[in-house]
Amino acid sequence: MVENTLGGSFATTGGPSFVRMGYGAMQLAGPRVWGPPADRDGAIAVLRTAVEAGVNHIDTADFYGPHAINEIIRAALAPYGDDLHVVTKVGSVRDENGGWPHARSPQQLREQVESNLRTLGVEALDVVNLRVGGGPDGHSPVAGSLAEPFDALAKLRQEGKIKHLGVSVVDEEQVREAQSIAPIVTVQNWYNVAHRGDETLIASLNEQGISYVPFWPLGGFNPLQSGVLDDVAAELSQSPGAVALAWLLHQSANILLIPGTSSVAHLQENLAAASVELTEDALTKLNGIAA
Ligand SMILES: NC(=O)c1ccc[n+]([C@@H]2O[C@H](COP(=O)([O-])OP(=O)(O)OC[C@H]3O[C@@H](n4cnc5c(N)ncnc54)[C@H](OP(=O)(O)O)[C@@H]3O)[C@@H](O)[C@H]2O)c1
Repeated sequence: MVENTLGGSFATTGGPSFVRMGYGAMQLAGPRVWGPPADRDGAIAVLRTAVEAGVNHIDTADFYGPHAINEIIRAALAPYGDDLHVVTKVGSVRDENGGWPHARSPQQLREQVESNLRTLGVEALDVVNLRVGGGPDGHSPVAGSLAEPFDALAKLRQEGKIKHLGVSVVDEEQVREAQSIAPIVTVQNWYNVAHRGDETLIASLNEQGISYVPFWPLGGFNPLQSGVLDDVAAELSQSPGAVALAWLLHQSANILLIPGTSSVAHLQENLAAASVELTEDALTKLNGIAA
């Protein structure tokens, strides 16, 4: 691991080396992740500030906007540096009501990969996550085979349209099934100081050199609410968000963060969270939040 002020780096086996503090672009879109950013110049400034600060991991999807967020990333950051990793995801499209229906047939996945290539303006996508689950809350794993859609992505990788693969909203069995089809460099699931359950998976991925990327590190659309988190933050003279991010970085070396924000000031606060030191007492209290 190389130390830097953004939490160091994590080198995946056979894939990118990611700076651990990254950026998630979903929050740049309009309300309900529909339409372009309200402040296009501001969105471009957030993306460029992140990369200038040393972030080399931008998380996106062509269904954010749709298309609008990839196009902003292209406008802000292309031509992309060799060390910059734009990670996208497929498996859903947007309907006319702003819904997110699954779209996982081999043909639909090919169309989504082609659309990502166009909107990001690249000849090969760096990392593509297959978003699998859903369930009643829309964001949790649902047991079942991912063989057909993941095999379709593995074929697109063999064609050279994708460099590396990952999976999102998956359980451990689905991770194993994906690995039996093609190597993966990342898993992206819902996880934060108040929403846990993937600890065994995270440890297993770490041993294999696979990154784990928790989405909603700050609670997403429902900001983290915990009296314990607030108390620990006050004791450390930090914001609750900074403590929540620092706690995630402390969990495992393979955890990469992609907090989302539409504000340069919030971005800078989030990047600074990598330098927050958690005392043993703080860790004990934080670990108890969702125990
Ligand atoms: N694989 C999946 O299914 C999936 C699902 C959801 C998300 N994701 C990815 O995960 C990324 C992270 O999730 P997210 O952006 O939805 O949620 P998040 O990072 O947990 O939280 C973002 C929210 O926190 C606010 N925020 C950020 N920094 C702040 C700060 N320093 N102070 C106060 N408020 C702050 C943002 O508002 P402001 O804009 O006002 O800062 C925004 O409302 C997304 O961008 C997306 O790339 C993936």
